[in-house]
Amino acid sequence: MKIAIHHRSGSFSDRWINYCEEKQIAYTIVDAYDTDIVEKVKDCDAFMWHHHHADYRDTLFAKQLLYSLQMAGKKVFPDFNTGWHFDDKVGQKYMFEAIGAPLVPSFVFYTKRESLEWIEHTSFPKVFKLRGGAGAVNVKLVRTKLEAIKLINRAFGRGFPQFDKWNNLKERWTKFKGGKDTFLAVCKGIGRLFINTEFGKMRSPEKGYVYFQDFIPNNGFDIRVVVVGDKAVALQRNIRENDFRASGSGDLVFPNENIDKDFISLAYKLNKKLGAQSTAFDFIKDLDNNIYLVEISYGFPMLNFLDKASGYWDENLSWNEGKFIPQNWMVDNLIR
Ligand SMILES: Nc1ncnc2c1ncn2[C@@H]1O[C@H](COP(=O)(O)OP(=O)(O)O)[C@@H](O)[C@H]1O
Ligand SMILES: [Mg+2]
Repeated sequence: MKIAIHHRSGSFSDRWINYCEEKQIAYTIVDAYDTDIVEKVKDCDAFMWHHHHADYRDTLFAKQLLYSLQMAGKKVFPDFNTGWHFDDKVGQKYMFEAIGAPLVPSFVFYTKRESLEWIEHTSFPKVFKLRGGAGAVNVKLVRTKLEAIKLINRAFGRGFPQFDKWNNLKERWTKFKGGKDTFLAVCKGIGRLFINTEFGKMRSPEKGYVYFQDFIPNNGFDIRVVVVGDKAVALQRNIRENDFRASGSGDLVFPNENIDKDFISLAYKLNKKLGAQSTAFDFIKDLDNNIYLVEISYGFPMLNFLDKASGYWDENLSWNEGKFIPQNWMVDNLIR
């Protein structure tokens, strides 16, 4: 068994490579962006790539490359079931409805006329989202019909830029004020008003659809459960001050064995249905204790994230105290 690994410093590949070295698993480092990548991995049995939603090149072809190699009989990470819906909330809406997952009631329209008709007889507030993005950057609370109309006009007009420079600055400023980021970060945000990100430059604006969800009043946090094979790790993310959004707040709590086990068992149940190798489930609980699924992602931050948990849950919902490296589990499961 030989694994080809696309290496991006700071990504899961750092740990995949370390683990292969440690366990003497045969591997080779490849560059997925090479035009002859398929030829280059010919002598490998597996291919792993922690592709990223904010690298425009990855969004162009990472899934296509991975699933082509999977079709050809190689083990890949992330594979089709794990990754086709990555960074695609619209795709996930259909998938969650199809498998009977408790998705927050979600609505998508592909014409201005139908969008405007719908808001005539729906209630507010609603949550507006673009299909891609993470850290809550493309998620907004829509309090009134008028706000919704503005968003609809934009969605079917000039569209939404892939990088929202004002929102970026606002986020940095709020984090700085709350002691969660440096003044340098704010300065960088000011610089970003003038210099677009590479992603913002290379990707066309988001348009041609609108996506809304019911707003679910909750207790001020979401719960992320990451299932990798037969192990699950969980953490709580508190919302930003005077906001409703948890992801990207940087305010993490680790309830460890005290977490509500319903989240863990639901995550395992859903992951079985998905047949996925690695899934981060984002749940919220409403004020009547109903659990809703917000979104999923095969990837998650690597540093200062799951590492801070003091243990994991196994499939029997038993707590296993101790340090662990989830990226190693990915390698283990792939070569098993
Ligand atoms: N329908 C909703 N009702 C209430 N809160 C929500 C809803 N959707 C998202 N949120 C909050 O906003 C945050 C970001 O939304 P999410 O869809 O997960 O976007 P992202 O991909 O940017 O993380 C979530 O972590 C959650 O706290
Ligand atoms: Mg999220």
